[in-house]
Amino acid sequence: MDSFVIEGGSRLRGSLRIAGSKNAALPVMAAALLAGGKSLIEDIPNLQDIRSQIELLKLLGCRVERRADGKLEIEVIDETSSHAPYDVVRKMRASICVLGPLLAKRGHVRVSMPGGCAIGDRPVDIHLRGLRALGATIELEGGDIIAHAGRLHGAEVFLGGNFGSTVLGTANVMSAATLAEGTTVIECAACEPEILDLANYLNAMGANITGHGTPRITVEGVAALHGAEHRIIPDRIEAGTFMVAAAISNGELNLDNVRIDHLMAAVDKLRSIGVIVEKSGGGVTVASARRLEAAIITTQPYPGFPTDLQAQFMALLAMANGNSIVSEKIFPDRFMHVAELTRLGARMHREGATVIIEGEQQLIGAPVMASDLRASAALVLAGLAARGTTTINRVYHIDRGYEKIEERLNSLGAKIKRVDQSDAE
Ligand code: EPZ
Repeated sequence: MDSFVIEGGSRLRGSLRIAGSKNAALPVMAAALLAGGKSLIEDIPNLQDIRSQIELLKLLGCRVERRADGKLEIEVIDETSSHAPYDVVRKMRASICVLGPLLAKRGHVRVSMPGGCAIGDRPVDIHLRGLRALGATIELEGGDIIAHAGRLHGAEVFLGGNFGSTVLGTANVMSAATLAEGTTVIECAACEPEILDLANYLNAMGANITGHGTPRITVEGVAALHGAEHRIIPDRIEAGTFMVAAAISNGELNLDNVRIDHLMAAVDKLRSIGVIVEKSGGGVTVASARRLEAAIITTQPYPGFPTDLQAQFMALLAMANGNSIVSEKIFPDRFMHVAELTRLGARMHREGATVIIEGEQQLIGAPVMASDLRASAALVLAGLAARGTTTINRVYHIDRGYEKIEERLNSLGAKIKRVDQSDAE
């Protein structure tokens, strides 16, 4: 198992291209199961989660090939298996997004029920409610979700839950509705850019979806979909993470391939903290203003502040002038990073789903443990700002969502070594 050894204190400077979005790519790849013919998808990042999704698509009868130009070619060649087994699903929860496409195209599906994870309970009840409304029969057996349907039928489907809508639930129901008979209206649909991207791909495949990007999506069912070419949107969470890297290291970065309109809540917070963020061409320039101000942040569904940047901003606020408050409204237990940041000298007090951060702390390097993808990113950021050496164990979490993050940060002036854990201890 690899670890990172970070020598803190370097100011990051330079330019970097932001990769295609992992969370847009995963449901788009699953939606390729709906097509007859080949799809060609551009800007799929090269990450562990994507490799797991490729493995799953192969088990489900697809030919998947990364071409020399980096594009991913996906073609369904055998529709006999509709089983997403536990071995794959336990590695990556997002495997659940094959549920809707397989049900709509093959009429039956067996997907292992994803368990909870380091960010909390993660039920899929709303996905199932939505697919039942389209006519599916669903039962649970041996830890698997087993769903059957003839041709699905259009319906009015409400996808709201106690924490807002569901991103992958919207992906599942919208994908399934493309092949249903008649019209589906999804109310309280997720508005995240990743859903917009998926709808654009489905429409390129011949689907008839309108209203995507708003809380009411309408899908007119069609008889069949064909393969299509599609380019994945830039990863807004990776972009936000590198923006914080510029700010926390008191540096200046030019980030290319950034949709600033997908990141306005985070950009607005950075500006209020005192970070300079300017649009430049197809990207942004981010520079620290040296003195960072405290902030009050509440995570919300898009276009609110993203839960996937909560941990990274908490690392930044540990350095700010004054006390900050961070409330988590999507995953109320997503705070595994708090104890680890505290090991680095941050002063944070958790009360339920809220954390108060006493700012102006000089972080000091220490050994810490990565618990999930974004928590790991926060620890890397804190390590960049800390005095001395920070060792982050279990960095396989970060490899799930950021391609070669240490090499890319090092190209900007960071000092991060990847070592085998046995060497680090
Ligand atoms: C997606 O997860 C992302 N994953 C997550 O990113 C992200 O944190 C999350 O959306 C919220 O933005 C992918 O896109 C692969 P949800 P998803 O269903 O779709 C509750 C990362 O770091 N809920 O929108 O699984 C749920 O518990 C990852 O890249 C139900 O109650 O999240 C949560 O409180 C982590 N019942 C809220 O809704 C359901 O059936 C939102 O979850 C479904 C969800």
